[in-house]
Amino acid sequence: MTTPATKTSILLTGANGSLGTYTALQIAKHHPISHHLILAARNPTDVNSKNLTALLDALGNGVTYAFFALDLASLASTRAFVAELRSQLETGVIPPLHAIINCAARVAFTPEPYTVDGFHPIYQINYLAPWVLTTGLVGNLVEGKGMVVNVTSSARGMGGVGYFDDEGIAKGEPGEVTKEEGSLGGLTTYGSAKLMMAHPGKTPPSIILFDPGTISSVSRASTHKPLLLRLIIHMVSTIAPIARLLGTRSLFHDVEVPANALCKLVCEAELGGGRTGLWYLGDEIVGGKEEVGEEDARRCWERTVGVLGMEEMSV
Ligand SMILES: NC(=O)c1ccc[n+]([C@@H]2O[C@H](COP(=O)([O-])OP(=O)(O)OC[C@H]3O[C@@H](n4cnc5c(N)ncnc54)[C@H](OP(=O)(O)O)[C@@H]3O)[C@@H](O)[C@H]2O)c1
Repeated sequence: MTTPATKTSILLTGANGSLGTYTALQIAKHHPISHHLILAARNPTDVNSKNLTALLDALGNGVTYAFFALDLASLASTRAFVAELRSQLETGVIPPLHAIINCAARVAFTPEPYTVDGFHPIYQINYLAPWVLTTGLVGNLVEGKGMVVNVTSSARGMGGVGYFDDEGIAKGEPGEVTKEEGSLGGLTTYGSAKLMMAHPGKTPPSIILFDPGTISSVSRASTHKPLLLRLIIHMVSTIAPIARLLGTRSLFHDVEVPANALCKLVCEAELGGGRTGLWYLGDEIVGGKEEVGEEDARRCWERTVGVLGMEEMSV
């Protein structure tokens, strides 16, 4: 393998989560020379971050990486992260930015406190803050080649782009708990934020939506899953090997499958570079469908700019 003249960076949020960990490992294993990993984690010193650090170091293949603290439930933390990263990118401390992978997410099935910024936690963690991050860093992407990958979910089918506003739950007093929504409500808030991540916004040059399918390993993205949901996940995990044998592999798979697909998508230019709106489900390319129509996308973007304040979008 020839050493590329320029090493570029890949930013991965939720790097210490299930999909994040395996994606970081795939990139580190297969592209240690061409890519530097920027690993954003809510807690870069927790057990999962330490586990990823140990796995990366054990590769012994010269891969370079750095952990950064990022709490998407705080816009101040998100902006501080963006400012720090921009400073390091612009002064050449870290290699030019090739890709932003918005992988971090949260699902909640019981009421949770509104964020310190006064937003519904799912709305902010899964949608608003990733947009602050993306908008703040998009200008630092390598010109003509950089890409933004938003990790989505089939739960987007249960959501609506105006859900948080229409239900009157978008904003609340910081610390006040959100209203009881039940498991379907939990999936609807999660799905709505995921659907909103599918609109193209205005600035990013290339937004690719990546659907990992159902991952048949433990995800930490939710708390207090209802019993029925836990049973379904257990069943899915149990029948996954059979389902995959029968050919429905895009529905159920081990985390390595979408992690490998995500790695290929980001690191192999002929797959991802310059394309918009493609859906990758697991390791299959399933089409170029735009999930959010033009009018919905425009309204969604205007609302986003409105709640965050246009000038606040540039960090
Ligand atoms: N698992 C599935 O079957 C499935 C299916 C479809 C789509 N997805 C999507 O795949 C992605 C990865 O999911 P996963 O299964 O790997 O979940 P996971 O293991 O729970 O990972 C979620 C990650 O998001 C981070 N996160 C949560 N709240 C955060 C915050 N406030 N600030 C910063 N980071 C935060 C978590 O950090 P902490 O550990 O600190 O909380 C964790 O690193 C998500 O976007 C999810 O929606 C998953």
